Amino acid sequence: MREKGLIGAGMVFCMISCMALFLCSCGKQQPDSAGKVHIGVAYYDQSDTFLNQLLDCLRERIREFETEEFETMITVRDAAGSQRTQDDQVKELIDAGCNVLCVNLVDRANPSEIIDLAREYDVPIIFFNREPVAEDMMQWDKLYYIGADAEQSGILQGELAADRMKEAAQTDRNKDGKIQYVVLEGEPGHQDTIIRTESVVETLKNSGIELEKLSYGIANWNRAQAQNRMMQMIGQYRNQIELVLANNDDMALGALDAYEKLNYTESALPVFFGIDGTDEGLEAVKDGRLSGTVYNDKEGQAEAMARLAVALVSGEGLEELLKEMEFEDGKYCYLSYEKVTKDRVEEFLEK
Ligand code: BGC
Ligand code: CA
Repeated sequence: MREKGLIGAGMVFCMISCMALFLCSCGKQQPDSAGKVHIGVAYYDQSDTFLNQLLDCLRERIREFETEEFETMITVRDAAGSQRTQDDQVKELIDAGCNVLCVNLVDRANPSEIIDLAREYDVPIIFFNREPVAEDMMQWDKLYYIGADAEQSGILQGELAADRMKEAAQTDRNKDGKIQYVVLEGEPGHQDTIIRTESVVETLKNSGIELEKLSYGIANWNRAQAQNRMMQMIGQYRNQIELVLANNDDMALGALDAYEKLNYTESALPVFFGIDGTDEGLEAVKDGRLSGTVYNDKEGQAEAMARLAVALVSGEGLEELLKEMEFEDGKYCYLSYEKVTKDRVEEFLEK
């Protein structure tokens, strides 16, 4: 009898605790699936100026979706340049409950592991800034890309430089009728490096400017590396360099650093062009150290990422959004670049 009573009491206790557990877990899970977007962001390297500024925009934009019923959360991981590390981080983000991923690949040709993981857990991926190749984008229907059109940025940079050459004859300092130039390139293999370099040179040529390429340096988007490369090129070519075309603002600023370090006077400097319109880049355009830059619309990209993330998680308004933002093939969204010169720079500084 006593034993039976004990078992009975034990069973009742067990049932109550099971029910309590069940209720608790329901309470926990509900906002997770329905009323909450938890974005897991994985990006290739935390030393990247443009991406840090883009992610600040994303944090701001996603906060605007926060309401009483809808919670927003964002967790960011930096891969420090290792695809292996990034693959592991994506697994951790999924384990931590992220219900949508924003991935800035380290190696844009190597997303398979991440895609497989995301598909296994049914977590959609918005790739951004570093574009996967087309075949990989077709691996699953919940893959998207948000970025900008690399060719356009090269064309606009070329137009800026051509305008400058035509306006200011003194750019051709040795008066040989040609512009001696060097290029500072981003990471090899990055869509923006290859295409920007090609299209800027082609645009300049098409506009009737005679060019002579002296050299180029690979500086992986990085200011300090660009300074080094530029020091080497100055060592080799001295005063011959008339134009520096950089694939991004940080490298254009690094080139400027090199001349500053060598105490060049202003009249002996080449002209410099960047791309991005980072905060520092815009300041340099404002004070005339950079002749121009091309605005990489981080606000627009962040906005598209935030809206798409929310639509994917909530299941609401996805089709309309893809149409409104003119997603190509229902997957790709390219925001437009814009030219920035001194006379328009304030407009961009206010963004
Ligand atoms: C930007 C660079 C940046 C790179 C990172 C490019 O679109 O112009 O500044 O370093 O993306 O992937
Ligand atoms: Ca010349």
